[in-house]
Amino acid sequence: MAFENVEAIVLAAGKSTRFKTGKSKLIEKICGREIILFATKLLEQIKIDTTLVVGHQKEIVQQLVKKHHKNITFIEQKKQLGTGHAVASTKDIWKKEHVLILNGDVPLVTEQIIEDLYKKHIATDAAISFVVSHCENPNHAYGRVIKDKNKIKIVEAKDFDPTIHNDHCCINAGIYIAKTEFLKDCIEKIDKSASNEFYLTDLVEIASNANLGVQTTSASLNVTRGVNTLEELWATEQIQRAELIKYWMNHGVRFNVAQAVHIDLDVQIGNGTQIGCAVHLLGNTKIGKNCNIRKFTTIEDSTLEDNVEIHPNCVVRDSYIAKEAQVGPFANIHSQTKIEQGVSIGNFVEVKKSNIGKFTFARHHSYLGNATIGSRVNIGAGTITCNYDGIAKHETIIKDNAYIGSNNTLVAPLTIEKNAFTAAGSTITEDVPTSCLAIGRSRQVNKENYVEKLYEKLKTRSAEINKNKKETSKINVKNIKKDKEQQITQ
Ligand code: UD1
Ligand code: CA
Repeated sequence: MAFENVEAIVLAAGKSTRFKTGKSKLIEKICGREIILFATKLLEQIKIDTTLVVGHQKEIVQQLVKKHHKNITFIEQKKQLGTGHAVASTKDIWKKEHVLILNGDVPLVTEQIIEDLYKKHIATDAAISFVVSHCENPNHAYGRVIKDKNKIKIVEAKDFDPTIHNDHCCINAGIYIAKTEFLKDCIEKIDKSASNEFYLTDLVEIASNANLGVQTTSASLNVTRGVNTLEELWATEQIQRAELIKYWMNHGVRFNVAQAVHIDLDVQIGNGTQIGCAVHLLGNTKIGKNCNIRKFTTIEDSTLEDNVEIHPNCVVRDSYIAKEAQVGPFANIHSQTKIEQGVSIGNFVEVKKSNIGKFTFARHHSYLGNATIGSRVNIGAGTITCNYDGIAKHETIIKDNAYIGSNNTLVAPLTIEKNAFTAAGSTITEDVPTSCLAIGRSRQVNKENYVEKLYEKLKTRSAEINKNKKETSKINVKNIKKDKEQQITQ
């Protein structure tokens, strides 16, 4: 649908006092996206020119929005004197026939809500139209919509008195569209409230009293919730998360314990994939088909191709894992690591900024950093790349079919050529040529019939140690006695 005769204003200058964190709530995330970006992204998607009113922590809010949008205008509201004042501070830029006004803290608004509101507003030639929802809980600080005979007004939560006002289940959702002409005539007519604020919501009563058209459309509170407190942030995120999980379930993704999974908005998951308990899928993560992501694993900003299995308790960050690879349990894959098809990364293995070639195994207790490892390489248990010398990072290259014995220390920079073999327990400090066996450890010595002699030696040594200990303690006791005697005589 086209909204050609509409421009939008998003209110984002408020102080977030009820959040009590000292930070603007608008930069707090819901399923990986900052609250303010929900409104700006929706408006960009439906092609409505947008102005953002900024004030409190304006640099942070502005910087965030600029990172995601090129064409948003910013207007500063120097003093936070209420939503009516915030809208009034944009009046010089109103150009189009209608102005859509969104509270910046209502993140789950949909295109459908805006379309319904716009259509009704245009069809009825209303001066102002707004979205309402049903909310029975009087503790929520929403403005209540009060209809009396043929008049309508919004009474703010602070001023609401259930003994005077009826219809308190109908609340104002903070999404409005008004004729620009009406706004120009009436925005200055809003009076200061008892709390020294100018309420935008007073426009409804002003229009109604002047017998100008006022319209409402309704939407579920689930999608119109405002976020004023951390509790509301939590509730809103639960709703968003549940929606995402339902969406992926309907696309063939099995969640073993859906209520314990955290999933961000931009995550994609292929069908046939299974997601275990307490898995976190974050940021720009793509998971292929028929993968198995088992419990307590976090995957962030990473791509997994089809048929990958991640065993429990792994972290995968900023990395790529090709099809049929196996990772974990307890593996840490990060910093632009690329794991090729059929690789097996086992338990307690950290891989950082490395490429691991096809069908290579590193199954137990290893650190592979700044390494380029070819295909069908075996990395023995306990192998580590010493990639950092205290000043710079260095690369380890291990070519196809090489065999790295257990407990190897590979001191970079280092190249181990194809088919090379390093002996268990080696410290490898020099390049290893193709098909070469490298042994970097001292030779073993076997002393024939030595064990009895050894025990004799050990016994004599421990007897000497015990004797020394007794003598030292006798001297100590004597010294203590002497000290006490001296103290008494003093
Ligand atoms: C507002 C409505 C209330 C409605 C609710 C829906 C008013 C007076 N009340 O209340 O009827 O039910 O939203 O969620 O409008 N802001 C500014 N400048 C200011 C004050 C606020 O830009 O001086 C911004 C805030 O950053 C926020 C938005 O306006 O994004 C709404 O302000 P808020 O204080 O949250 O209003 P509510 O009390 O929730
Ligand atoms: Ca609010």
